Amino acid sequence: MKRLAYGILLLAFLAASACMIYYGKLTFHMKKAEAEHDKSMYHFVLIPEELDNEYWRLVEKGARDAASLYGVYLEYAGPRQADYSEHLKTLDTAIAGKVDGILMQGGKSEMLTTLISKAHDKGIPVITVDTDAPETERAAYVGTNNYYSGFLAGQALLADTNGPQRVGIVTGRFQSENQKQRVEGFKEAIKKEERIQIVGIEESSITKIGAIEATYRLFHNRPDITAIYGTSALDGIGIAGVTRYFNKKNIYVIAFDTLPETLFLLNEQAIQATVAQDPYEMGYNAVASLIKLKAGENIHPLQYTDTSIIRREDLPIVEGESGS
Ligand code: BGC
Repeated sequence: MKRLAYGILLLAFLAASACMIYYGKLTFHMKKAEAEHDKSMYHFVLIPEELDNEYWRLVEKGARDAASLYGVYLEYAGPRQADYSEHLKTLDTAIAGKVDGILMQGGKSEMLTTLISKAHDKGIPVITVDTDAPETERAAYVGTNNYYSGFLAGQALLADTNGPQRVGIVTGRFQSENQKQRVEGFKEAIKKEERIQIVGIEESSITKIGAIEATYRLFHNRPDITAIYGTSALDGIGIAGVTRYFNKKNIYVIAFDTLPETLFLLNEQAIQATVAQDPYEMGYNAVASLIKLKAGENIHPLQYTDTSIIRREDLPIVEGESGS
Protein backbone atom coordinates (compact mmCIF):
# COMPACT_ATOMS: atom_id res chain seq x y z
CA MET A 1 0.00 0.00 0.00
CA LYS A 2 2.78 2.36 1.05
CA ARG A 3 4.66 1.55 -2.15
CA LEU A 4 1.61 2.35 -4.24
CA ALA A 5 1.18 5.70 -2.50
CA TYR A 6 4.84 6.57 -3.09
CA GLY A 7 4.49 5.53 -6.72
CA ILE A 8 1.46 7.79 -7.21
CA LEU A 9 3.25 10.67 -5.48
CA LEU A 10 6.29 10.24 -7.68
CA LEU A 11 4.17 10.15 -10.83
CA ALA A 12 2.29 13.26 -9.76
CA PHE A 13 5.58 15.02 -9.08
CA LEU A 14 6.98 14.07 -12.49
CA ALA A 15 3.82 15.19 -14.28
CA ALA A 16 3.84 18.52 -12.44
CA SER A 17 7.51 19.11 -13.32
CA ALA A 18 6.89 18.28 -16.98
CA CYS A 19 3.99 20.74 -17.07
CA MET A 20 6.09 23.43 -15.43
CA ILE A 21 8.88 23.01 -17.98
CA TYR A 22 6.48 22.86 -20.94
CA TYR A 23 4.34 25.85 -19.97
CA GLY A 24 7.38 27.76 -18.77
CA LYS A 25 8.90 27.36 -22.22
CA LEU A 26 5.66 28.28 -23.93
CA THR A 27 5.30 31.47 -21.92
CA PHE A 28 8.90 32.28 -22.62
CA HIS A 29 8.34 31.88 -26.39
CA MET A 30 5.18 33.89 -26.28
CA LYS A 31 6.87 36.61 -24.27
CA LYS A 32 9.67 36.71 -26.81
CA ALA A 33 7.22 37.02 -29.72
CA GLU A 34 5.23 39.65 -27.85
CA ALA A 35 8.40 41.57 -27.05
CA GLU A 36 9.43 41.57 -30.71
CA HIS A 37 5.95 42.63 -31.65
CA ASP A 38 5.89 45.43 -29.05
CA LYS A 39 8.96 47.03 -30.59
CA SER A 40 7.35 46.96 -34.04
CA MET A 41 4.90 49.38 -35.53
CA TYR A 42 2.69 46.65 -37.00
CA HIS A 43 2.16 42.92 -36.88
CA PHE A 44 1.59 41.36 -40.33
CA VAL A 45 1.08 37.70 -41.20
CA LEU A 46 2.17 36.01 -44.43
CA ILE A 47 0.21 32.82 -45.22
CA PRO A 48 1.85 30.70 -47.95
CA GLU A 49 0.43 27.64 -49.72
CA GLU A 50 3.10 25.54 -48.00
CA LEU A 51 5.59 26.66 -45.34
CA ASP A 52 8.79 24.91 -46.38
CA ASN A 53 8.38 25.24 -50.14
CA GLU A 54 11.49 26.84 -51.71
CA TYR A 55 9.36 29.16 -53.82
CA TRP A 56 7.43 30.45 -50.80
CA ARG A 57 10.65 30.95 -48.87
CA LEU A 58 11.55 33.52 -51.56
CA VAL A 59 8.23 35.32 -51.06
CA GLU A 60 8.99 35.25 -47.32
CA LYS A 61 12.48 36.68 -47.90
CA GLY A 62 11.08 39.64 -49.85
CA ALA A 63 8.43 40.20 -47.19
CA ARG A 64 10.99 40.02 -44.37
CA ASP A 65 13.33 42.50 -46.06
CA ALA A 66 10.50 44.99 -46.48
CA ALA A 67 9.29 44.26 -42.92
CA SER A 68 12.67 45.07 -41.42
CA LEU A 69 12.87 48.26 -43.48
CA TYR A 70 9.47 49.43 -42.20
CA GLY A 71 9.84 48.10 -38.66
CA VAL A 72 7.09 45.51 -39.04
CA TYR A 73 6.85 42.30 -37.03
CA LEU A 74 6.24 39.67 -39.72
CA GLU A 75 4.88 36.25 -38.88
CA TYR A 76 5.13 33.43 -41.45
CA ALA A 77 2.41 30.89 -40.73
CA GLY A 78 0.45 28.26 -42.62
CA PRO A 79 0.26 24.58 -43.55
CA ARG A 80 3.41 22.41 -43.45
CA GLN A 81 2.15 20.65 -46.56
CA ALA A 82 -0.33 22.24 -48.94
CA ASP A 83 -3.75 21.90 -47.29
CA TYR A 84 -6.55 24.27 -48.09
CA SER A 85 -8.54 23.89 -44.88
CA GLU A 86 -5.44 24.52 -42.79
CA HIS A 87 -4.70 27.54 -44.96
CA LEU A 88 -8.14 28.96 -44.13
CA LYS A 89 -7.76 28.07 -40.46
CA THR A 90 -4.53 30.09 -40.32
CA LEU A 91 -6.36 33.03 -41.86
CA ASP A 92 -9.14 32.76 -39.27
CA THR A 93 -6.58 32.60 -36.43
CA ALA A 94 -4.78 35.68 -37.77
CA ILE A 95 -8.08 37.60 -37.85
CA ALA A 96 -8.93 36.45 -34.32
CA GLY A 97 -5.45 37.54 -33.24
CA LYS A 98 -6.26 41.07 -34.47
CA VAL A 99 -3.14 41.39 -36.61
CA ASP A 100 -2.64 44.65 -38.50
CA GLY A 101 -2.47 43.19 -41.99
CA ILE A 102 -2.47 39.89 -43.88
CA LEU A 103 -0.58 38.77 -46.99
CA MET A 104 -1.74 35.46 -48.36
CA GLN A 105 -2.08 33.18 -51.34
CA GLY A 106 -5.57 33.77 -52.74
CA GLY A 107 -7.95 31.33 -54.36
CA LYS A 108 -11.63 30.80 -54.85
CA SER A 109 -14.07 29.43 -52.29
CA GLU A 110 -17.06 30.63 -50.31
CA MET A 111 -15.16 30.22 -47.06
CA LEU A 112 -12.29 32.35 -48.31
CA THR A 113 -14.71 35.11 -49.38
CA THR A 114 -16.40 34.98 -45.97
CA LEU A 115 -13.12 35.15 -44.06
CA ILE A 116 -11.69 37.99 -46.13
CA SER A 117 -14.94 39.94 -45.55
CA LYS A 118 -14.60 39.22 -41.84
CA ALA A 119 -11.05 40.67 -41.91
CA HIS A 120 -12.27 43.65 -43.92
CA ASP A 121 -15.08 44.35 -41.42
CA LYS A 122 -12.55 44.32 -38.60
CA GLY A 123 -10.34 46.79 -40.44
CA ILE A 124 -7.63 44.24 -41.24
CA PRO A 125 -6.47 44.70 -44.85
CA VAL A 126 -5.75 41.52 -46.84
CA ILE A 127 -3.41 41.52 -49.83
CA THR A 128 -3.31 38.42 -51.99
CA VAL A 129 0.07 37.33 -53.36
CA ASP A 130 0.96 34.76 -56.04
CA THR A 131 -2.71 33.89 -56.66
CA ASP A 132 -5.49 36.44 -56.64
CA ALA A 133 -8.97 36.25 -55.13
CA PRO A 134 -10.65 38.99 -57.21
CA GLU A 135 -14.19 38.20 -56.08
CA THR A 136 -13.39 38.94 -52.45
CA GLU A 137 -12.84 42.14 -50.49
CA ARG A 138 -9.06 41.79 -50.64
CA ALA A 139 -7.42 45.21 -50.86
CA ALA A 140 -5.06 44.33 -53.70
CA TYR A 141 -3.25 41.55 -55.55
CA VAL A 142 0.54 41.49 -55.90
CA GLY A 143 1.86 38.74 -58.15
CA THR A 144 2.07 37.09 -61.54
CA ASN A 145 -0.66 37.44 -64.11
CA ASN A 146 -1.13 33.67 -64.09
CA TYR A 147 -3.22 33.41 -67.25
CA TYR A 148 -0.68 35.45 -69.18
CA SER A 149 2.22 33.41 -67.78
CA GLY A 150 0.56 30.24 -69.10
CA PHE A 151 0.07 31.97 -72.44
CA LEU A 152 3.80 32.76 -72.50
CA ALA A 153 4.58 29.09 -71.88
CA GLY A 154 2.38 28.08 -74.83
CA GLN A 155 4.07 30.63 -77.08
CA ALA A 156 7.49 29.34 -76.05
CA LEU A 157 6.49 25.78 -76.94
CA LEU A 158 5.28 26.99 -80.36
CA ALA A 159 8.48 28.90 -81.00
CA ASP A 160 10.82 26.13 -79.86
CA THR A 161 9.28 23.06 -81.53
CA ASN A 162 8.53 21.88 -85.07
CA GLY A 163 6.04 19.31 -86.29
CA PRO A 164 3.33 17.50 -84.32
CA GLN A 165 3.62 17.69 -80.54
CA ARG A 166 1.78 15.56 -78.02
CA VAL A 167 1.91 17.48 -74.76
CA GLY A 168 1.53 16.15 -71.24
CA ILE A 169 0.88 18.60 -68.39
CA VAL A 170 2.04 18.23 -64.78
CA THR A 171 0.13 20.70 -62.64
CA GLY A 172 0.59 21.57 -58.97
CA ARG A 173 -2.95 21.13 -57.69
CA PHE A 174 -6.14 20.79 -59.69
CA GLN A 175 -8.01 23.01 -57.24
CA SER A 176 -5.51 25.93 -57.25
CA GLU A 177 -6.73 28.93 -59.18
CA ASN A 178 -3.28 29.94 -60.40
CA GLN A 179 -2.62 26.43 -61.72
CA LYS A 180 -5.94 26.42 -63.59
CA GLN A 181 -5.16 29.81 -65.10
CA ARG A 182 -1.68 28.67 -66.22
CA VAL A 183 -3.26 25.73 -68.01
CA GLU A 184 -5.99 27.93 -69.55
CA GLY A 185 -3.49 30.53 -70.80
CA PHE A 186 -1.36 27.76 -72.30
CA LYS A 187 -4.37 26.26 -74.10
CA GLU A 188 -5.27 29.67 -75.48
CA ALA A 189 -1.79 30.14 -76.96
CA ILE A 190 -1.80 26.79 -78.76
CA LYS A 191 -5.47 26.52 -79.68
CA LYS A 192 -5.08 27.52 -83.33
CA GLU A 193 -2.14 25.20 -83.95
CA GLU A 194 -3.36 21.82 -85.05
CA ARG A 195 0.08 20.31 -84.66
CA ILE A 196 -0.10 20.73 -80.87
CA GLN A 197 -2.31 18.37 -78.92
CA ILE A 198 -2.67 18.07 -75.14
CA VAL A 199 -2.84 14.35 -74.35
CA GLY A 200 -2.93 14.23 -70.57
CA ILE A 201 -2.81 16.19 -67.32
CA GLU A 202 -1.67 14.91 -63.93
CA GLU A 203 -1.32 16.47 -60.47
CA SER A 204 1.96 16.73 -58.53
CA SER A 205 0.63 18.04 -55.15
CA ILE A 206 3.40 20.66 -55.57
CA THR A 207 6.12 18.21 -54.52
CA LYS A 208 9.11 16.83 -56.47
CA ILE A 209 8.15 13.24 -55.77
CA GLY A 210 4.58 14.03 -56.83
CA ALA A 211 5.91 15.49 -60.10
CA ILE A 212 7.99 12.35 -60.70
CA GLU A 213 4.91 10.16 -60.17
CA ALA A 214 2.75 12.40 -62.35
CA THR A 215 5.32 12.20 -65.18
CA TYR A 216 5.40 8.40 -64.89
CA ARG A 217 1.63 8.29 -65.20
CA LEU A 218 1.71 10.55 -68.26
CA PHE A 219 4.29 8.35 -70.03
CA HIS A 220 2.51 5.21 -68.93
CA ASN A 221 -0.75 6.37 -70.51
CA ARG A 222 0.84 7.98 -73.57
CA PRO A 223 4.32 6.68 -74.38
CA ASP A 224 4.22 8.87 -77.52
CA ILE A 225 4.43 12.16 -75.54
CA THR A 226 6.89 14.63 -77.09
CA ALA A 227 6.64 17.60 -74.71
CA ILE A 228 5.80 18.21 -71.04
CA TYR A 229 4.68 21.43 -69.38
CA GLY A 230 5.09 21.77 -65.59
CA THR A 231 2.98 24.53 -64.04
CA SER A 232 4.39 24.88 -60.51
CA ALA A 233 7.87 25.46 -59.09
CA LEU A 234 8.97 21.87 -58.43
CA ASP A 235 7.24 20.20 -61.38
CA GLY A 236 10.00 20.79 -63.95
CA ILE A 237 12.55 19.24 -61.58
CA GLY A 238 10.44 16.08 -61.20
CA ILE A 239 9.75 15.88 -64.95
CA ALA A 240 13.44 16.24 -65.82
CA GLY A 241 14.26 13.56 -63.22
CA VAL A 242 12.12 11.07 -65.17
CA THR A 243 13.17 12.07 -68.69
CA ARG A 244 16.82 11.90 -67.64
CA TYR A 245 16.41 8.57 -65.90
CA PHE A 246 14.88 7.02 -69.04
CA ASN A 247 17.30 8.89 -71.27
CA LYS A 248 14.45 10.53 -73.19
CA LYS A 249 16.59 13.22 -74.74
CA ASN A 250 14.09 14.48 -77.30
CA ILE A 251 11.34 15.48 -74.93
CA TYR A 252 10.75 19.23 -74.83
CA VAL A 253 10.31 20.32 -71.18
CA ILE A 254 8.94 23.70 -70.20
CA ALA A 255 8.93 24.47 -66.49
CA PHE A 256 7.90 27.18 -64.06
CA ASP A 257 10.13 29.35 -61.85
CA THR A 258 13.84 29.81 -61.49
CA LEU A 259 14.83 27.81 -58.42
CA PRO A 260 18.56 26.92 -58.49
CA GLU A 261 17.87 23.28 -59.44
CA THR A 262 15.67 24.36 -62.35
CA LEU A 263 18.38 26.68 -63.66
CA PHE A 264 20.93 23.90 -63.29
CA LEU A 265 18.71 21.56 -65.35
CA LEU A 266 18.16 24.32 -67.91
CA ASN A 267 21.89 24.64 -68.28
CA GLU A 268 22.17 20.85 -68.61
CA GLN A 269 19.47 20.99 -71.32
CA ALA A 270 17.21 18.67 -69.36
CA ILE A 271 14.71 21.58 -69.32
CA GLN A 272 14.40 23.73 -72.45
CA ALA A 273 12.59 26.79 -71.08
CA THR A 274 11.07 28.06 -67.87
CA VAL A 275 8.62 30.79 -66.92
CA ALA A 276 10.34 33.18 -64.53
CA GLN A 277 8.23 34.78 -61.80
CA ASP A 278 9.41 37.21 -59.14
CA PRO A 279 8.42 35.78 -55.74
CA TYR A 280 10.84 38.04 -53.83
CA GLU A 281 9.25 41.12 -55.36
CA MET A 282 5.77 39.79 -54.51
CA GLY A 283 6.61 39.56 -50.81
CA TYR A 284 8.45 42.87 -50.74
CA ASN A 285 5.82 44.87 -52.63
CA ALA A 286 2.94 43.35 -50.73
CA VAL A 287 4.40 44.48 -47.38
CA ALA A 288 5.14 47.94 -48.84
CA SER A 289 1.53 48.15 -50.05
CA LEU A 290 0.15 47.17 -46.64
CA ILE A 291 2.24 49.96 -45.11
CA LYS A 292 0.73 52.44 -47.57
CA LEU A 293 -2.77 51.25 -46.73
CA LYS A 294 -2.04 51.69 -43.03
CA ALA A 295 -0.95 55.27 -43.76
CA GLY A 296 -4.29 55.88 -45.47
CA GLU A 297 -2.80 56.03 -48.96
CA ASN A 298 -4.43 54.51 -52.02
CA ILE A 299 -2.81 51.54 -53.72
CA HIS A 300 -3.35 49.97 -57.11
CA PRO A 301 -5.59 46.90 -56.70
CA LEU A 302 -3.78 44.92 -59.42
CA GLN A 303 0.00 44.91 -59.12
CA TYR A 304 1.43 42.41 -61.59
CA THR A 305 5.03 41.42 -61.05
CA ASP A 306 7.35 40.52 -63.95
CA THR A 307 7.03 37.28 -65.88
CA SER A 308 9.25 36.16 -68.73
CA ILE A 309 10.58 33.09 -70.51
CA ILE A 310 14.13 32.02 -69.72
CA ARG A 311 16.09 29.67 -71.98
CA ARG A 312 19.62 28.33 -71.68
CA GLU A 313 21.05 31.20 -73.72
CA ASP A 314 19.63 33.69 -71.19
CA LEU A 315 21.66 32.20 -68.34
CA PRO A 316 24.77 34.07 -67.31
CA ILE A 317 27.89 32.37 -68.68
CA VAL A 318 29.75 30.72 -65.85
CA GLU A 319 33.55 31.01 -66.09
CA GLY A 320 35.24 27.83 -67.21
CA GLU A 321 32.25 26.66 -69.27
CA SER A 322 32.86 25.83 -72.90
CA GLY A 323 29.57 27.50 -73.88
CA SER A 324 28.59 24.60 -76.14
C1 BGC B 1 3.35 28.83 -57.72
C2 BGC B 1 2.88 28.69 -56.29
C3 BGC B 1 3.07 27.29 -55.78
C4 BGC B 1 4.50 26.84 -56.01
C5 BGC B 1 4.62 25.38 -55.61
C6 BGC B 1 4.74 28.28 -57.90
O1 BGC B 1 5.02 28.26 -59.27
O2 BGC B 1 3.33 30.17 -58.13
O3 BGC B 1 1.51 29.00 -56.20
O4 BGC B 1 2.77 27.21 -54.41
O5 BGC B 1 4.83 26.97 -57.39
O6 BGC B 1 5.92 24.91 -55.68
